[in-house]
Amino acid sequence: MTPDVRVYPSLEELSREAAAEFEALAHRRAEAGKGFYVALSGGSTPRRLYELLGSPGLLSRIPWASVHVFQVDERAVPPDDPRSNYRMIREALLSRAPIPSDHIHRLRGEASDLEEAARDYEAELERAFRPGTAAPPRFDLILLGLGVDGHTASLFPGSKALGEQTRWVTATEVAPLGARRLTLTLPVLNAAERVLFLVAGDEKAWTLRQVLYGPGGRYPAQLIRPAHGRVTWYVDKAAARRLEDGGGEGPELARPMC
Ligand code: 6PG
Repeated sequence: MTPDVRVYPSLEELSREAAAEFEALAHRRAEAGKGFYVALSGGSTPRRLYELLGSPGLLSRIPWASVHVFQVDERAVPPDDPRSNYRMIREALLSRAPIPSDHIHRLRGEASDLEEAARDYEAELERAFRPGTAAPPRFDLILLGLGVDGHTASLFPGSKALGEQTRWVTATEVAPLGARRLTLTLPVLNAAERVLFLVAGDEKAWTLRQVLYGPGGRYPAQLIRPAHGRVTWYVDKAAARRLEDGGGEGPELARPMC
């Protein structure tokens, strides 16, 4: 199936369009009298989107009382650490949007036992979504990024977490970074109603082409295929540079996943 790729001149315009989509989806859920359940990625690309959502222009237009914010993944650091995804999301959005505090669900990256923190988050997901059912939580919207090595969330090439088909949250080793992470797993990511990938920067151009149009099964981002959901790629011009031409040769990336 042809991927739904939307190319924008800059990260700013990409972020504005993604913010408009967020607003529209939030209103659709609110008008149906339902909560809007979102899972937000960290990293640098989505920061501007979060800042726009928390800016005066949009702040008053989004029904924040019905928004429930979860995290896609987190580094094994405290929430005030500069590397913390939660810290970025809090600074850019949560400190400005009037989201009820019990609608904000933080991954406890600071936990000494990350497996226990993963279990706790699964319990929090079950309480928030459909208590008592075994089906993975179906987010209304999940925002994902793309690493140069084709990772997304904290699902890295070669990671055991890629094979997780039962758990909803797992602790994972990121060997190339010598770091540990907490991440939502593929069963949850692929249960989503709507997934937006935000990809910007020339350094992503070759990876994006491989992920979208190269052989399948090579990069974790290619495994994001919601059975009953839609994926849209919000890409800036720089990252889309290789989508038009033959793609050309690129750097030898991390060994493909399989
Ligand atoms: C993280 C993110 C991660 C991110 C990609 C892209 O914890 O870093 O969740 O999956 O989306 O690494 O990061 P950039 O947006 O910074 O390029």
